[in-house]
Amino acid sequence: MNRGIRRREFLRHGALAAGAMACGAYLPHAAVGAASADSRIDVLLDEPLGTISPNIYGHFTEHLGGVIYDGLWVGENSPVANLQGVRKRLVEEMRKIKAPVVRYPGGCFADSYDWRDGVGPADKRPRRTNFWNDADTKAAPENHKYESNRFGTNEFMRFCRLTGAQPYLAANLRSLPAEEFCHWVEYCNSPAGSTSLAEIRAAAGSPEPFNVRFWGVGNESWGCGGNFTPQEYAVEFRRFTTWLPHYGPELSLVASGPYSEETSWTRGFFEELLRKGADQLRSVYGLSLHHYAWNLSRGRTTDWDKGKGSALEFDPVDWYELLREGQRVEAIVEGHWRAMGEYDEQHRIKLIVDEWGPWYRPGSEATPGNLLEQIPTLRDAVFSAMTLDVFNRHPEKVAMANCAQLINCLNSLYLAHEDKFCVTPVGHVFAMYAAHQSGQSLRTVFSAPQVHYDRDAKPASFWGLQGSASRDGKELQLTVVNPHVSEARECSIAVRGGRVVSGSATTLTSSDIHAHNTFAEPAALEPQTKKLEASGAELTVVLPAASVSKLTLVLG
Ligand code: AHR
Repeated sequence: MNRGIRRREFLRHGALAAGAMACGAYLPHAAVGAASADSRIDVLLDEPLGTISPNIYGHFTEHLGGVIYDGLWVGENSPVANLQGVRKRLVEEMRKIKAPVVRYPGGCFADSYDWRDGVGPADKRPRRTNFWNDADTKAAPENHKYESNRFGTNEFMRFCRLTGAQPYLAANLRSLPAEEFCHWVEYCNSPAGSTSLAEIRAAAGSPEPFNVRFWGVGNESWGCGGNFTPQEYAVEFRRFTTWLPHYGPELSLVASGPYSEETSWTRGFFEELLRKGADQLRSVYGLSLHHYAWNLSRGRTTDWDKGKGSALEFDPVDWYELLREGQRVEAIVEGHWRAMGEYDEQHRIKLIVDEWGPWYRPGSEATPGNLLEQIPTLRDAVFSAMTLDVFNRHPEKVAMANCAQLINCLNSLYLAHEDKFCVTPVGHVFAMYAAHQSGQSLRTVFSAPQVHYDRDAKPASFWGLQGSASRDGKELQLTVVNPHVSEARECSIAVRGGRVVSGSATTLTSSDIHAHNTFAEPAALEPQTKKLEASGAELTVVLPAASVSKLTLVLG
């Protein structure tokens, strides 16, 4: 194994040392200019994998805890800066990261939600019990337990218009009839003045249709969404989607899919769906998939509560444990893709990973009482970068992904309370990775010494470097994660089939693996950008310990 570069050496010598740069033909590991490198990355310009769907960088907002009320929505008359009731700072940040799509209103909440409660005059909307009320603590404000419906379809569309994101609505399959799904589509998409529902929409200030393309047909239908077997769900899916009103965009319907490795759900669903003939496949745009990294017990338990770890207090083994749990998503994507191919040989149906992220035990809420809120650290930034790289590497399989959840929740990009706001390390990763959107994903080979560590007196290992690359015209984006908690990697990079003329490197790291941002210290962890000099035979960079890096290389 090559030597590692100690964290303190890296800190002494600065964030990213650009060595000589060139990149034409493939250069062997011991190429001139890379003699001290312990790692290597080969970007293969001639091996495109497909276009990275911008929607891989999607988000999720549920009526849960502080996500909607206080997070996204502060109200028109709030002293907090807002745009028609939507938190202004959130809108500004989401524009910066080119937020492509937002899923709403759940999650589990979706299957208890009557969309009609959230439309019409705000002061006439009914007050209901929120799906999550059982889980709320005493510290939770009233508006978490009882849904005021002050924020509904129109307000969500306003939020989407302000941020530039497309809406992705999850329909209620558990507790509303199929007719109500049709009516919600009609409310959103029927042309101005055409139907009574279009008139109700117009009365609320939106005569023109919202033209919602993405619709989820239930959520987690194996659990909170109805406790169905995959066969039962397939029957419901057929019934709910047999006829939907068609106006505007062709609807892209997302079937409620499996949790993590459950390929029996995927197979059961398609088998039953196809009992009515092969053309049934045409009604499915995507199969949803959820994967949370929650079990940090190192194999001691599979209990949902006992297995969870702390968001802020963790040791290096916990760090690697979280990354191992997250890395599973790659095999999960591949496994479901193979299973889907048994029924859909042309692979017309894509995977929609519409909930992903780490899930810790309660205790790190930025605002006490905010259900499922946790404070993301550098560990979650590395986790998120690693996950986005997985999606980038499988552009033909993953058409959309939605990080759970946007604000004041699990793997949030932002934390907010009243007039306080901060961008989390996860938010910074989304900003760095936005450059991959719509790029051509390129096959990229990472060679680096593995991480070796002691996992409860047993030797364990994890990959040394991983990432993804994409090209858009003359710009190449290469994102790389170094998961090692204490060793930097000196890495030579060859761009095979091209020539680099200039570049820059942006790195998110800290000497403290627990680093995170708070309302009091919102800039404790921020990425740093440096210019790279382009000359010579090979590009060599230092990738700090516990880091996420993005190299933007301009090709000649
Ligand atoms: O994101 C929180 C919850 O996790 C969602 O409501 C549900 O779909 C999942 O179990």
